[in-house]
Amino acid sequence: MTRPPARRGRIGSAAVGILVMLAAACSGSDQPTGPIDDVPGDSLPVVYTLPVVVHVVHNGEPVGAGTNLSDERIAAQIRILNEDFRRKPGTPGFNDDPVGADARIEFVLASRAPGGAPTSGVRRIDASATANPVPQNDLFPYYAHYGYWDPARYVNVWTMPLPETAQNIVLGFATGPQTHLPGSDLLLDGEPIQPEGILVNAAHFGPSSIPSPFNRGRTLTHEMGHYLGLLHLWGGRDCADNDFVADTPPVMSPIISCVPRVGCSGLPTQTANYMTFADDGCMNLFTEGQVERMREVIETSPRRMGLPTSPGLGG
Ligand code: ARG
Ligand code: ZN
Ligand code: CA
Repeated sequence: MTRPPARRGRIGSAAVGILVMLAAACSGSDQPTGPIDDVPGDSLPVVYTLPVVVHVVHNGEPVGAGTNLSDERIAAQIRILNEDFRRKPGTPGFNDDPVGADARIEFVLASRAPGGAPTSGVRRIDASATANPVPQNDLFPYYAHYGYWDPARYVNVWTMPLPETAQNIVLGFATGPQTHLPGSDLLLDGEPIQPEGILVNAAHFGPSSIPSPFNRGRTLTHEMGHYLGLLHLWGGRDCADNDFVADTPPVMSPIISCVPRVGCSGLPTQTANYMTFADDGCMNLFTEGQVERMREVIETSPRRMGLPTSPGLGG
């Protein structure tokens, strides 16, 4: 099997806490509920735009060759990320699932660097010519050594210049947000334990023609889900206590490939959900409950809540 192992930390620890039914968080009678659905007449929730810096860590190739990904490839990845988070009609990110939702979260490459200088939002670092004293096993500290922008202002994304033998085995990693939401202990630690952000194997970043079920840029969509607080649908692999999202049917074990299965409750699993290990080609779904959870993180979590007003957006 060439599947990546589950990489969330502390899978065994019981996620205690109040079972907040996120999808029903606004059930008060005359409270404005701010639904995510595009129901005519409802006022739509604000679109959050988050600035991204892509640190392209490469092996010394010219721009556009090998792991030194082209600007076009990076732009295409950001486009795919937006299609997916906006459930954009006419793109692979669209779905007509009854619980499918437009997250109304968008991403742009940063246009101002820390300090205010103009930037393309893409940094290129030749790892073959840059000493790095950090052990490579300490993934986030290792990549952050090549560059790390204030995580309260930027979503840091690093592309990893891994050998071809790592293709389809290592896809990506993300740290989770600091939050009161149940289950967040199942995500990898970020600040203050270690630098936080998203790592993606360069081979799986953006669309490409590599022979792989993971060549359509969905690894970043999945990792961004973790970065904004989402768990895999199977969470800690316990039917009762899975991803703490009500409208993703519970499932005990990882959803792999595009073949639907029956989950814990007898309901079919959501093979199309981005928070599975399914192939890029069958993914198109964030649910209303997942969107509630991600927006809650953006609204309340340290180093997430400042992103929509970041000076990195150039505003
Ligand atoms: N296995 C990785 C993780 O758990 C990424 C899975 C991405 N899936 C995909 N179809 N690209 O973070
Ligand atoms: Zn994952
Ligand atoms: Ca669920």
